[in-house]
Amino acid sequence: MREWWFERHTDGKNSYLGDSAGKAVWKFLGLEDYIKPETVILNVGVGTGRCTRDLKDKGVKELHVLDITDAAIEKVKDIAIGYTTPQDLSDSKFDLIISHLVAQHINDEELLFHLGHYLRSLKDAGFAALQFRDTLEDKGGQSFITQRSGRVCRSQLDMRNLVDKVGGKVLKWLKTREITVVDGALPVLWHGVYIIK
Ligand SMILES: C[S@@+](CC[C@H](N)C(=O)[O-])C[C@H]1O[C@@H](n2cnc3c(N)ncnc32)[C@H](O)[C@@H]1O
Repeated sequence: MREWWFERHTDGKNSYLGDSAGKAVWKFLGLEDYIKPETVILNVGVGTGRCTRDLKDKGVKELHVLDITDAAIEKVKDIAIGYTTPQDLSDSKFDLIISHLVAQHINDEELLFHLGHYLRSLKDAGFAALQFRDTLEDKGGQSFITQRSGRVCRSQLDMRNLVDKVGGKVLKWLKTREITVVDGALPVLWHGVYIIK
């Protein structure tokens, strides 16, 4: 999987990378009031680097990024400290962890690993804000193909169970957004959740 993402980050096509504007991410995750210059932030999943750059432009002084490949971290190394595995995150470091368009690329085993380390690396008053994908149709499993195409789907109950397993708590659910990907098909659901220790 790491090699596959390395190729996506280096083939010059920007496919699968996501290029969400910071404003879109903060709006969906309801983070406007939480992002301040002194907030120590971990942004998970660099993509093209746009959201991380927007965080910097917003005045955030200490930015960290986590991505599966160095090739992603390279894109923002001038403004952020990077990690390729959640194991490398320091204890009790972050006020806020942001994950947008990432959970849908990760199977449950990997997501549990991420969540456990997010909790460890959050300050006591910090939280992790995660977007995740759901469907009104059959969830379709968590194969490599499903992960690569960002179609790993979870209900809010699925997410609650994962958070429970790593000893975290759901602080709140955000308003679910329905997104029409293909005309005439059922919409895809985007959920959002705040997770605390
Ligand atoms: C679709 S992009 C999302 C980019 C950005 N967050 C956005 O909203 O536009 C997914 C990003 O997550 C990274 N990624 C995929 N699997 C990962 C994993 N297991 N751990 C950390 N990062 C991962 C990819 O390299 C890619 O940069």
